[in-house]
Order: sequence, then C-alpha cells, then structure tokens
Amino acid sequence: MHVQHLEKRYGANAPAIFSDISFTINRGEFVCMIGHSGCGKSTILNILAGLEHPTTGHVSMNGHHVTQPGLERGVVFQGHALMPWLTVAQNVALAVRARYPGMNKADVTQKVLHYLTMVNLQDAQHKRPSELSGGMRQRVGIARAFSTTPDMLLMDEPFGALDALTRGVIQEELLRICAKTGQTVFMITHDVDEAILLADRLILMSNGPQAHIAEIVENPLPRNRVRTSIHHQPGFYDLRNHLVDFLVRRSALASQTSH
Ligand SMILES: Nc1ncnc2c1ncn2[C@@H]1O[C@H](COP(=O)(O)OP(=O)(O)OP(=O)(O)O)[C@@H](O)[C@H]1O
Ligand SMILES: [Mg+2]
Repeated sequence: MHVQHLEKRYGANAPAIFSDISFTINRGEFVCMIGHSGCGKSTILNILAGLEHPTTGHVSMNGHHVTQPGLERGVVFQGHALMPWLTVAQNVALAVRARYPGMNKADVTQKVLHYLTMVNLQDAQHKRPSELSGGMRQRVGIARAFSTTPDMLLMDEPFGALDALTRGVIQEELLRICAKTGQTVFMITHDVDEAILLADRLILMSNGPQAHIAEIVENPLPRNRVRTSIHHQPGFYDLRNHLVDFLVRRSALASQTSH
C-alpha cells in the first residue's frame, strides 16, 4: 500500500489536521502508528480503509486507488461497530459470508467458532452486543476482522479496552497469524510496549494540529519476538526509551518547529 501526501482539512479555511503524510506498507509488514490524541491517526486509518477521503493526496493498494471500503481491507475500529440486532456469532458470520459468498454453512460456522474461541468468546456467541462488556464487544470486532483473512488488517487501538491478560493472549495470536500467513497490518496504538512487540516499523506522529510524520523507526529486534522475554533482548530498552522520549518531549517540539 502506498500512502502519498495525505492532507486533511475540515473546511477550506480551517488549518490542516495533518499534512504531507506519506509512507509505504509492504506486503507482510506490520506497521504501527503512534502519536498523541487528536493528531489524526484514526482519520488516517479511515482514509486507508476508504471510509473517509483526504483533502489532498491519495492511497493505492495492489495498483488501485483506494476510494471506498473493500473486503480486502479488514477494519477493527477504535469503538466497536457491531450490528446490535445480531448475535455475536451472527455478527462474525455476516462478515465471513460477505468475504466468501460461496462458502457452505458448516464451514462458515466452523470459521466463526474458531475466531470467537481465539478471543475467548465461544460461550457468548449467542448473546447480543448490548449484553456484552466493552472489552467483549471489542473482541467480537477483532474476531470479525480476523475471520475474513483480509489482505490488510487496519486496526485502531484494537486492544485498548482489554484487560492485560486478554490483551497478551490476542497479541500472541496476532503474532502467530502474522508469522504463519504473512498478514499485512497497519495498527494504531498508544502502548509503546505493544508497538515494540508487534511492529516491524513505527510511524511517529507529531502533535496536531498540522501534524506530520516526525520519524519512521525500524524495529531492530528480530521478528521472532515473544512478549514474555522481549525485554531481555538487546536493543529493547534503547528503542523503548527512544519512543517514550518522543512521546513525552519531542512530539510537541516536532510540531512547533513545523509551524
Ligand atoms: N468531522 C470533523 N470535523 C472537524 N474536525 C474533526 C472531525 N473529525 C475529526 N476532527 C478533528 O480531527 C482531529 C483528528 O482526529 P482523530 O480522531 O483522527 O485523532 P486521533 O489521533 O485518532 O486521536 P485519538 O488518539 O484520541 O483517537 C481532531 O482534532 C478532531 O477534532
Ligand atoms: Mg483515534
């Protein structure tokens, strides 16, 4: 996916929320975006998803311009976005059937159960979203996106509402899926440890308004990262300090010098 010179303004005379956002996501790569609240991360993700349009610039994937949502891009939203009248299983099945129109009922059911089990919701499959906690709803959204095995997963703080234990389990499952299938992922997170564990490359955003990409950092830690031992790996604390220093100090400086 090529992202070129995105800028977003709400109104002709309004200042840009962000400008000149350009980066590439290679097939099989895991890219995380980090930046403070309001710098435009969700807006950028929504543009990659085809749900919003930039004021200028464009996004292309597999040689085509992205102008609308597509099943080859699976989205996990910052807030869950489930059909309230459908059960948990029906919400996931709807996505599976949209992605694989010819799939028989037993295979759909089996796929749905596989991904609901992954997020530990097999016992809640017949409940409706209104009967679930926020974290459970978020997990349905994750199961739904994973179940469609999209070419690219777009995830907006997908694990923010989860307890630490569940978050760890799903992070590990995501790493496993990525290692096994070469899943391409673009993910927004506030959590630097999560970013170091998951990302091959990190895009650091300066503060808004008029946010821009301050820095793109390659993760120097080898790809077989494991959550429970990653902090013992050489380079972990250098990268962690670099990111924390960016967030607490340099993201604001980066935005001042650009004005
Ligand atoms: N429809 C709109 N009209 C005007 N401004 C908007 C609109 N939608 C978003 N914005 C502004 O765009 C900016 C970026 O919003 P966005 O949701 O992309 O930020 P974010 O980086 O995802 O923040 P967070 O980390 O809190 O999720 C914010 O300042 C927001 O107020
Ligand atoms: Mg956001």
